Amino acid sequence: MTLKEMCPVLYFGDLGDKRGKLVVIEGAQAIPFDIKRVFYIYDSDSTVIRGQHANRESEFVLINVAGQSKVRITDGREEFVVGLNKPMMGVYIPKMIWKDMYGFSSDSVLLVLASTHYDDKEYIRNYDEYLKEMGIKK
Ligand code: TYD
Repeated sequence: MTLKEMCPVLYFGDLGDKRGKLVVIEGAQAIPFDIKRVFYIYDSDSTVIRGQHANRESEFVLINVAGQSKVRITDGREEFVVGLNKPMMGVYIPKMIWKDMYGFSSDSVLLVLASTHYDDKEYIRNYDEYLKEMGIKK
């Protein structure tokens, strides 16, 4: 499986009508896990790089519910960038994938759905350590 196949861009149904848009994301249906945690990032700007980690246990879906940002995704071998710029699109990030979020517009609200409760111990925040755990570097 390629990295892009492992981290698909997801499009959610729009149940909107004349009154406005409505996007629903049901855990284990529209996304491949049950949602245990939700957090959102805003007030970052175009100079900021966030993320810069991989997670041993957590899976995520990232959605810009307002504004836009970019996510660089890598497994240490391949990499690609997803531009998040629509409230009905997201990207799925499985365990052990390294991600950087950047290019935040001033109105960006980046919603993150996670499969786990927060546990700092499952984060790999050092890229060399990540490459070692991936068996890419000694
Ligand atoms: P950090 O992992 O740097 O955020 P991001 O991945 O979005 O760039 O987290 C910033 C701080 O917030 C850090 O001290 C850990 C804490 N935090 C929690 O306590 N719970 C959470 O769910 C998250 C995502 C972060």
